[in-house]
Amino acid sequence: ETIKWTPEMAQKGGYSHFMLKEIHEQPEAVKNTLSEVSDIENIVSQFPQFKRITFVACGTSHHASLVGKYLFEALLGLPTDVVLASEFEFSEGAIDPDSLVIFISQSGETADTLKALKIANKKAKTLAIVNVLGSTATREADYVIFTRAGPEIGVAATKTYISQLTCIYLLAACMGKNRELLDELQQIPDYMKTVLLLEEDIKEMAAKYKDAQDFFFIGRGFSYPTAMEGALKLKEITYIHGEGYAAGELKHGPLALIDDDVPVVAVVPPGKSHDRTLSNVEEVKARGARVIGLGSEDDQVLSYEASDMIKFPSQIRELISPLLYVVPLQLLSYHMSVQRGIDPDKPKNLAKCVTVE
Ligand code: AGP
Repeated sequence: ETIKWTPEMAQKGGYSHFMLKEIHEQPEAVKNTLSEVSDIENIVSQFPQFKRITFVACGTSHHASLVGKYLFEALLGLPTDVVLASEFEFSEGAIDPDSLVIFISQSGETADTLKALKIANKKAKTLAIVNVLGSTATREADYVIFTRAGPEIGVAATKTYISQLTCIYLLAACMGKNRELLDELQQIPDYMKTVLLLEEDIKEMAAKYKDAQDFFFIGRGFSYPTAMEGALKLKEITYIHGEGYAAGELKHGPLALIDDDVPVVAVVPPGKSHDRTLSNVEEVKARGARVIGLGSEDDQVLSYEASDMIKFPSQIRELISPLLYVVPLQLLSYHMSVQRGIDPDKPKNLAKCVTVE
């Protein structure tokens, strides 16, 4: 008997869903995006002296922008704001001719983002970081960088997020003439392959946690956007409520919600934020929460504290961790979605590209 292949099955390249295929394409996506470095160097050489940066985006692209803020402030010492595109018209007063306004968009067609781009173009230099060639944002911005993730079919952004981050890291490295960081970025595809090998463990973890109704995702600094992106992936494809929170803010309110029904995903790479996030892990544990810890393979304390641990190579320092620590969170949501009988490629109420304000 012959297996009947549909065109869609062939497009998915043997994976059950586009989302899973796209998650596994991430090492390749990073590699392709890294090849943009000479274009980025060229763009940077045309830059006037900017005094501040403002990132504007929606959804997952907003989370990439948040990583950009931490990175630009840490490496370049440039004051950096992040504004949601739908809020931009209410804070446009903050930009001036010395600003660079960076728009991040997979599609280059998101209505809120395009509207903000129109406003910003009248006041400052604009740069668009976009995945789709020829999209409206690429025609309207002063400078354009392509993410080169390839087409993304799944509604949930995965490889395009990683490619956006790669562009942001390249941009920061080029602006800061940071050779060391450029070299470090070359290692990301291989690290990412190692991280993807965790999939079987994560699938088992998904089965354990898939019936929870609420989750918290916590992190500080570079890990805060990762927590937010993990929570967004959870919401959109599993329909479970997930909140991404700055770990230090827990005690200012949401700690009241924590009990043994609310699992907490803690993003705790080695670095500046480590010890304080670890004490937040202890706090939520004391209130009964099960904790999924993401940290270094050497981190015995986190391993001991966490109910389940996702281990990363110890060389992955905090500054580059956003490029890697989000990957298991994509897989966790993907497997929970499938186990809950949902089609992760087509979550309800959502469109791949939001062309209404
Ligand atoms: C994320 O999984 C969503 N698809 C969504 O948040 C998306 O990132 C947002 O709508 C922005 O889209 P854009 O990057 O195409 O502008």
